Parts: sequence; C-alpha cells; structure tokens
Amino acid sequence: MQDHYGHRISYLRVSITDRCNERCTYCMPQELQEWLPRHEILSYEEMLRLIRVAAQLGVSKLRITGGEPLTRRNVIDFVRRLPDIDGIRSIGLSTNGTLLVREITPGQTMAQALNEAGVQSINVSLDTLDPTVYSQITGRDFHGQVLGGIDAAIDAGFDQIKLNTVLMRGCNEDQLLPLIEFAAARNLVLRFIEMMPVSTREVLNESNFMSVLEAKRFIESAYGSLIPEREFRTNGPATYYQVPGRAQRIGFIGAMTNLHFCESCNKLRLTCDGKLRPCLGSYLEFDIMRPLRAGANDQQLKQFFLDVVERKPREHEFRNNYQPNRKMIAIGG
Ligand code: 5AD
Ligand code: SF4
Repeated sequence: MQDHYGHRISYLRVSITDRCNERCTYCMPQELQEWLPRHEILSYEEMLRLIRVAAQLGVSKLRITGGEPLTRRNVIDFVRRLPDIDGIRSIGLSTNGTLLVREITPGQTMAQALNEAGVQSINVSLDTLDPTVYSQITGRDFHGQVLGGIDAAIDAGFDQIKLNTVLMRGCNEDQLLPLIEFAAARNLVLRFIEMMPVSTREVLNESNFMSVLEAKRFIESAYGSLIPEREFRTNGPATYYQVPGRAQRIGFIGAMTNLHFCESCNKLRLTCDGKLRPCLGSYLEFDIMRPLRAGANDQQLKQFFLDVVERKPREHEFRNNYQPNRKMIAIGG
C-alpha cells in the first residue's frame, strides 16, 4: 500500500481498548471516564480478521496499544494468535508498565506471558523517577509497580525494551539526566517525546511545552555532543543518538517541531471502536466496523484499506491548531 506522497504502509497500530488504569494529564484527564460500551469495541476475532487483511496488503509490523492494552481481558490469548498471521514479522506492544509484573499464572508474570506469546518489542511509558511527580502526572500511585514492571520485562527477555518520556516543562525537565542514567544502567533505549495536542481538552500550552531541541541541548550540556546514529531505525519517526563514550542510545520524537517528521511515515491506525485512521494528527477516520459487521468479504475490506491509504495526508496538522477531540487513548498512541 502506498499513498500519493510515497508513504509506504507496512506498520499497523492496533488500539485494543479505550480503557486505562491511569489518568495521565496529557492523555486522559480525571473527569473523563466514560468508556465505550462493549458492543462498540471490536472483538478480538474482528481485529484478527482486519489484521489478516492488512497483512495481505503488505503490513508486516504490528504494535498493540490502547488505552492500556493490558487492561483488556484475555489479551495474552489474542496476542498469541498474531505470529501465525502470514506476513507479520514484528510484534510490539506499548504499555504504561503497571501490569507487567502481575502474575497471571503462578510464577509467570504478564511480561513473560507476552514474550512467550510472541511480543518482541515493548515500549513502557516512564516520565519521571520521582514517585510523587509520577502520581501527579498519572493520577495514580503506581510508580513502584512500573519500576517492577520494567524489571519483569527485562527478566522476560524481550528483543527490545524502550522507555518513553513525554517532555513537560515545569514538571519533568529535571528528570532527563536521571532517566538517562536509569536507562543506561539497564541497557534500555530511552526516547523523549514532544507533547502533542492529543487529548479531550487542551493540555498543551506555551508554558508546559518543551521541544526536543531544547531537551537535546540540555543533555549535551551534561554529556557533550550526542552522536547521530543514522543507521538505527525503529518502527517510528524517532531520531537516535549515541551518548558520547557509551554504548547508550537515546531517541527524540519531535512530532511538533520536526518539519520532516511525516516524510517517512509508514503507519496506519486501527482504533478499538473500528475506525481506520491514516494519521494521528488529522480528523480523518473511516469506520471499517460497519462494513465488517455488515458482512463485507476480504476483497471489500482490502479495498477499504486501500481507500483509506489513498486519503493519507502529507503530514499531520498539529501545527495548525488541530485538536482531535478524542483521547489519545482511543486512537492508540
Ligand atoms: N503527547 C505525547 N505523547 C503522548 N502519549 C500519550 N499522550 C501523549 C501526548 N499528548 C504517549 C504516552 C505513551 C505513548 C503511547 O504515547 O506517554 O508513551
Ligand atoms: Fe493511560 Fe497511557 Fe493515557 Fe497515561 S498515557 S492515561 S497510561 S493510556
């Protein structure tokens, strides 16, 4: 699948739930807790069917997201079926980390179960090492559980574990260096992400926004010039650097300030309520649940995907005061 701007679609992000056990300020503010009713959420069978169709069209990488994907029941049974889909070569999952350490069968953590089910790469959100600030950001006291979850993920032996930190001025700018040290000690890739206006209310303003350039300058004042790593690419639009004198790699996701951000976009999103979204930062979304539930055949579903890709914009509209008026959570960060 390719669009008019040369974007080749090989990567599908699948949000399996709109629910979350945390309430991050930039994602899902406290007062909004209306979950979608179950019949408005795609069943696992429906998701698997759509993923199969996408795989036939060239999608080879999947990332399971939410909400918090690990809050959905029987998530392991779902994940276990993904590696069998023809064409799928890479399976990742993004999580807030709170449930990774939970034992789902005696002696087996969620992290281990995911790994055994076929998840190769896992992204864990970690905005701060300070438990008090963590609670202020997420509305919950799960900091210790997340640190335990990161250890559980390390023990489980994933091919790759990444930590994601959303940059927030006045909140976690003092955490950049401690987080770099934390990641270094565990040999994890750390990525700093610019806050995006992806929430149900305005979360981003001039006083709390911090650009990746600023973060990079600050980091360089402590460690010296970061060394660009052009070779290293993950699925996403991060640019990676090596910390001088170390094997450590850190990444920056400049969704707001990097004007080339969208050029190599290879993504499509499936929301938990059955919408295909060609871009996180655009109002466009197309209801594939309706034809799916009305009995469309594979050929018709394929055509639906192709039509959506056809409508993929050149770039996101975050810089033009775009507000999706939907939680990140339902779109699938
Ligand atoms: N801006 C930037 N990143 C966000 N995330 C959630 N909401 C936002 C936002 N408004 C991040 C989470 C997680 C990933 C899935 O998306 O921190 O790391
Ligand atoms: Fe939940 Fe992640 Fe959103 Fe925080 S950012 S509320 S952990 S989905």
